[in-house]
Amino acid sequence: MMTVKQALAKVASQHEALRARMDHCTELADEVEKQGSSPDKLAQELAELRGAFERHNRFEEDMLRPILRTIVETLRVDGIASAHVAEHRELDHRFSDSPLGELRTTIAMLRDHLAEEEAHFSLAANRAIRTGAK
Ligand SMILES: [Fe+2]
Ligand SMILES: [Fe+2]
Repeated sequence: MMTVKQALAKVASQHEALRARMDHCTELADEVEKQGSSPDKLAQELAELRGAFERHNRFEEDMLRPILRTIVETLRVDGIASAHVAEHRELDHRFSDSPLGELRTTIAMLRDHLAEEEAHFSLAANRAIRTGAK
């Protein structure tokens, strides 16, 4: 079983990989728009971003409750965890159903999602260090 500290390190490195994929998708979208290049490569990279996001969410959702338990009272963990999972589903839905023109908005929403959870997770990391939890 992975410790909270190990899980947070893995989440952080997966976030970096997701951000690199988002940067790449944005560059490809620029090329399609400005240079009229074929959207095939963008569609392929987008499919890879969605796959990586899905795999990341599966990992994060398994670890969400143990991570949250280090920063909030047990009673509130379920509510916060379900709201977080609902946000994953909404983002995934936007990636699958939105026209390509919505891509930038969806990527911006995903960037906000990662930044916000990192703020919460860094509290968990500090708490784990202070209490000596592994
Ligand atoms: Fe998340
Ligand atoms: Fe995440």
